[in-house]
Amino acid sequence: MNTQLRFPQLYEPVRKVIPAPDWMLYEDDIDAILRLKRERNAVILAHNYQTPEIFHGVADIVGDSLALARKAVEVEADVIVLAGVHFMAETAKLLNPEKTVLIPDMGAGCSLADSITPEDIALLRQAHPGVPVVTYVNTSAAVKAASDICCTSGNARAVVESLGVPRVLMLPDEYLAKNVAKETDVELIAWHGHCEVHELFTAEDVRELRASWPGVQILAHPECPPDVVAEADFSGSTAVMSDYVGQQKPGRVVLLTECSMSDNVAVDHPDVEFIRPCNLCPHMKRISLSNIREALEQNRHEVTVDPAIIEPARRAVERMLAV
Ligand code: 13P
Ligand code: SF4
Repeated sequence: MNTQLRFPQLYEPVRKVIPAPDWMLYEDDIDAILRLKRERNAVILAHNYQTPEIFHGVADIVGDSLALARKAVEVEADVIVLAGVHFMAETAKLLNPEKTVLIPDMGAGCSLADSITPEDIALLRQAHPGVPVVTYVNTSAAVKAASDICCTSGNARAVVESLGVPRVLMLPDEYLAKNVAKETDVELIAWHGHCEVHELFTAEDVRELRASWPGVQILAHPECPPDVVAEADFSGSTAVMSDYVGQQKPGRVVLLTECSMSDNVAVDHPDVEFIRPCNLCPHMKRISLSNIREALEQNRHEVTVDPAIIEPARRAVERMLAV
């Protein structure tokens, strides 16, 4: 154990993914964040795509979008800091309207959330009368309010099938809808939104990985194009991919998703070799230890939801959580 460090126990598990000199630069912020959490009765919820010093250093609750929404309901704190993107902070606020929800950078958006508006949904409802609208949680609260029920990549098929109808509008991720459509008899009408991180992976990448890394198991997020998912060995949400590595213990694995995911999962599985072609999410990467510290010190940036939409938006999320 490195005795020059102030937090050697925190550093020990991440030493293979964070060089010691880098960690030393983080320690001031970690020290301040741990103190501020106690002083403000705050918790930090961090998505699986947050960098390891956040994910393993200061977060209280970590997970995929579904887990963060589920666990947000159970939080007993005055302040929630969402280390993730804006739609995740909005979802936490919908489920905790009386708590202060902070996001360290208001610019942490999402290409999927930006791809659709409530007006688009109104037009789709006119074009497909009576067809229920399932929206991915990667949407604004206003879009959630205009939909019937939400889903995540971890529960999309179950949500679609829970409605008991032959046809569903599944918005806004075209690839998620097409990937789920392969697993269900429900007809899914898609929108043209894409995740700017996952749309970059190609089936050719999968073939090259297999040729270069014998025996590699290839796991793809369902926001990847359908031909990528078809050629991969397994597909699932970030939490499902992480569980797969824990249960199957592949000798060599590649996670076709955001870059920090492999670092975070590798910490818990030192025997697994992670091959790391990956794409960075510029929105997730706006969050840092220093702006988490500033968020707690200066109570910024507070996430609010328009009172006119809070009830219908919360209903769509709660219907999903009940499935
Ligand atoms: P999940 O963690 O729910 O799989 O979502 C991935 C993602 O891209 C979140 O923005
Ligand atoms: Fe949005 Fe994709 Fe970034 Fe997730 S990884 S926040 S879906 S752009």
